[in-house]
Amino acid sequence: MNTITDTEFTRFQRFIFEAAGITLTPAKKALVCGRLAKRLQVNQLSSYTEYFELLSSGAAAGEVQTAVDLLTTNETYFFREPKHFDLLRELALAAVSRPQPFRVWSAASSTGEECYSITMVLADCLGSATWDVVGSDISSRVLQRARLGHYPLERTRHIPPTYLKRFCLKGTGDQEGTLLVERALRNRVSFAQVNLNTDLPRLGSFDVIFLRNVMIYFNGDTKRQVVARVLSLLKPGGHFFIGHSESLNEISSAVQQIAPSIYRKP
Ligand SMILES: C[S@@+](CC[C@H](N)C(=O)[O-])C[C@H]1O[C@@H](n2cnc3c(N)ncnc32)[C@H](O)[C@@H]1O
Repeated sequence: MNTITDTEFTRFQRFIFEAAGITLTPAKKALVCGRLAKRLQVNQLSSYTEYFELLSSGAAAGEVQTAVDLLTTNETYFFREPKHFDLLRELALAAVSRPQPFRVWSAASSTGEECYSITMVLADCLGSATWDVVGSDISSRVLQRARLGHYPLERTRHIPPTYLKRFCLKGTGDQEGTLLVERALRNRVSFAQVNLNTDLPRLGSFDVIFLRNVMIYFNGDTKRQVVARVLSLLKPGGHFFIGHSESLNEISSAVQQIAPSIYRKP
């Protein structure tokens, strides 16, 4: 396998910072080397310098997206950080009889587990009332998987048994060992490719926004810009959820903390 020099690593640090706002520390050198190695082979290149030149040439937009896909970290699972879903349930129940739609955005949705967890709670609490869920991510590869709503069974163990029964189909035959989120639920979610590090498309405003486990990859300035952009789409009185290892200290005063990792816009 080719090795990556310090100069080459610095170029890829700059590339992913400019593309996604992601800050890669020097400890990530081996990770970058490993994740991009196959792209050198596929493109028949003999060094990371040549691969970087390909990305910079302007002639390989698809390859730029592939590199972004490979350099993002997409770990996620159903009902991660369950307290957020307990509060979501309370908020949804409180909105049952109001006329306006209840809207939730999962702003770094990865492969969709967060969106479908939200959707199961809303389907349970709001039923056929008007509500919708938007999932977005910078990575086109994870969005493709999210849209399918099809997961290996071992990744679904945190779904409450009643929701498994009501909202999921267990694969049989050649689909044995997999689970499909049912179509009616999948239809409630719209997925969009959104880079939080640039101006946002028009997504409307939301009652609840999940921005979880993505800020950890950003430096302080990028966090401030991303959070300001995202919060501009939160309705007054709306709730904002971040990851448990993340904090808004010195990042934003536009929302007030009401519990660990949970904020409310006044
Ligand atoms: C670790 S996952 C978190 C998934 C989910 N929110 C959760 O907490 O389980 C982080 C996601 O952020 C996405 N991401 C990274 N930089 C981004 C950016 N600038 N804009 C949008 N999404 C980004 C990655 O592609 C990845 O899917």
